[in-house]
Amino acid sequence: MAVQVIDMLMQEHQVILKRLGEFQSYDADQLAEAPELTADFIAFIRDYADHYHHAKEEEILFPWMLQKNPQFKYGPIAVMLSEHNTGRELAERLSQQLEALQGAGTPEQRLGCAAAIHKTAADLCQLLQQHIHKEDNVLYQFAENIDAQTGDGDASMLEPCMEVNQKLEELARNHLPV
Ligand SMILES: [Fe+2]
Ligand SMILES: [Fe+2]
Repeated sequence: MAVQVIDMLMQEHQVILKRLGEFQSYDADQLAEAPELTADFIAFIRDYADHYHHAKEEEILFPWMLQKNPQFKYGPIAVMLSEHNTGRELAERLSQQLEALQGAGTPEQRLGCAAAIHKTAADLCQLLQQHIHKEDNVLYQFAENIDAQTGDGDASMLEPCMEVNQKLEELARNHLPV
């Protein structure tokens, strides 16, 4: 039987992928005209993708997997953690580029800043799309396999995940489509 926690995380991936696709549809002109598009995107990445979703992976799923198979520390989980950190760095860069856009004086400067935002966002989207692909198809399958052997997935992880959901419910809801 599939692990409910894995289903929950995979559904969150779909929310993230949808939002990445939306932001990728904007060109530099649109980003220059409407800085709030970038501000909303950064807030989504930080609140939903990182705080809400990655918190469950980093604090619940990965530790559970490591407890069952310490070898994962040097392989797949190390890669996932390093990608989360690269994502954080790119979100920070986006935030600095947004500040530059908000302070830009001329239309040319604004367009230059927006082009930089467009490039960083493309890197961030590509990183997260590939990351999600690896989790859905590889890492989460390892987790399902561990559960098949131990029967312990939801028994250990469901309650803590529900607690995180409850604690951060409002934060997540702000970013979900109405
Ligand atoms: Fe992840
Ligand atoms: Fe994930």
